[in-house]
Amino acid sequence: MARKFFVGGNWKMNGNKNEINNIVNFLKAGPLDANVEVVVGVPSIYLTYTKSILPNNISISAQNAYKVEKGAFTGEISPAMLLDNGIPWVILGHSERRNVFGETDTLIAEKVAHALAAGIKVIACIGEKLEEREAGKTEEVIFLQIKAIADKIKSWDNVVLAYEPVWAIGTGKTATPQQAQEVHNKLRQWFSKNVSPAVSESLRIIYGGSVTADNAKDLAKESDIDGFLVGGASLNSGFVTIINAKQ
Ligand code: 13P
Repeated sequence: MARKFFVGGNWKMNGNKNEINNIVNFLKAGPLDANVEVVVGVPSIYLTYTKSILPNNISISAQNAYKVEKGAFTGEISPAMLLDNGIPWVILGHSERRNVFGETDTLIAEKVAHALAAGIKVIACIGEKLEEREAGKTEEVIFLQIKAIADKIKSWDNVVLAYEPVWAIGTGKTATPQQAQEVHNKLRQWFSKNVSPAVSESLRIIYGGSVTADNAKDLAKESDIDGFLVGGASLNSGFVTIINAKQ
């Protein structure tokens, strides 16, 4: 079964209505490869505004959601609230949530499990830090990150896995196609052994970390890279070139 190429734009804490209008305009102008699933990850306060102006060939994602439906959790939003507003996706486990806000593997796994149970699709992010890579611990770290999630969920059908090496995020230091492919392949082998060959075959594993209009085409050629999660470069019209990288 062919895995549909998936390109997410993670706006992080960027954008205002004017800038969002501009992004939506270049996405509308495209043209976008119809064989690619495109999702934009939007700050929570702009989710409904963005959804109201997005063309229907592009989907929308929150950037975080808590692990329960409701309650005394000041500042949080829940998957139920996303559903209530027609938001089908959430990004969970992003390195900035892990490393700036101290989210643990366990909390992230709980959030992923709750979001899926509530009916929200998840872009689950994993990735090693520079010192972990240099210490030869990349596999150990990312396998622990996915095991935490795998132990808590029943199905990977509504998950896209984003491999985002922390040293490549926002640094302009993209992983080479070979470096990314090597890790994606290792992840696929892990899934085959620890979840099932079917999940290993069908799960989309996307790459994130300084993806640009210039490097996307070479990364997209690798057999285990099923798309991208794009930060900075999703805010300007070069994002259209990234979406079309597989053409
Ligand atoms: P950059 O593309 O800005 O490096 O960010 C990657 C990322 O964190 C996407 O989630």
